[in-house]
Amino acid sequence: MKGIILAGGNGSRLYPITKGISKQLIPIYDKPMIYYPFSVLMLSNIKDVLVISNSEYIELYRNLLGDGSKFGMNIDYKTQEKPRGLAEAFILGEDFIGDDNVCLILGDNVFYGLGFGAKLKNASSIQDGAIIFGYYVPNPKEFGVVEFDENFKVISLEEKPEKPKSNYVIPGLYYYDNSVIEKAKSIKPSARGELEITDLNKEYFNEGKLTVELLGRGFAWLDTGTYEGLSEASEFVKTIQRRTGLYISCPEEIAYRNGWITKGELIQLGKEYEKTEYGQYILSIANDREAI
Ligand code: TTP
Repeated sequence: MKGIILAGGNGSRLYPITKGISKQLIPIYDKPMIYYPFSVLMLSNIKDVLVISNSEYIELYRNLLGDGSKFGMNIDYKTQEKPRGLAEAFILGEDFIGDDNVCLILGDNVFYGLGFGAKLKNASSIQDGAIIFGYYVPNPKEFGVVEFDENFKVISLEEKPEKPKSNYVIPGLYYYDNSVIEKAKSIKPSARGELEITDLNKEYFNEGKLTVELLGRGFAWLDTGTYEGLSEASEFVKTIQRRTGLYISCPEEIAYRNGWITKGELIQLGKEYEKTEYGQYILSIANDREAI
């Protein structure tokens, strides 16, 4: 399976912070925002990743992540000229995806919770159809909303509805079979001029091939697109990391635990940031700190 991170957009709800820099490069506590979705792809066992962003920022992402070899991965880059919608990722990524299945994650989504790794590995083994997630929120109007019957079978999907039929919304993490490329090409832009991911999901739903897995209460899916969201996400990461002594979304650690880099390579990466707690954490992992 291939992975795509969408790291474009305007970030207009964070102006002036994002006037001069891509939103997904700004920090959530101690690391750039894109580390969080990047780690989710790694936890899904995905080694081939395409980062999509605006032309003026592509080089900045390349500076940060390189060609992926330091994590034992392959990373490609692609420009999105305008934010024409999430579903455009599959058109821009057609050559990169090739004949594979694909996972899309939004560059500003932060996930954290027990059992997440197992869910991701299960989703990434999908052969046919689509797997997306459902999460209960108090403000469903702002998202794609999914309605269930009493057996949690999907009844409807709606993008940013005026009158939401449920409080369950769809976070920015989607696993699709290869037909997503053709489906993305066939959908028309919405009234707001975007190729909507909800329209893609509806196609899978109509074919009876859409699975929606619930992320239960106790699971954290954080919004980082506003001042409040950004600051709360930073506080959340800081609190968990300081309390447990274990990091949320440290790609160096995940690469090592996945067996994609050696202990020697991990130590090299840690030494690069030796003056920081982040670097010291990496070195402590290399020194066989217990895994949880
Ligand atoms: P949004 O939060 O919907 O948009 P945005 O990031 O431009 O922010 P704002 O509403 O403040 O202007 O986008 C969700 C994520 O998807 C975010 O990481 C940006 C990314 N994105 C793209 O890369 N390309 C797109 O065409 C769209 C619509 C979003």
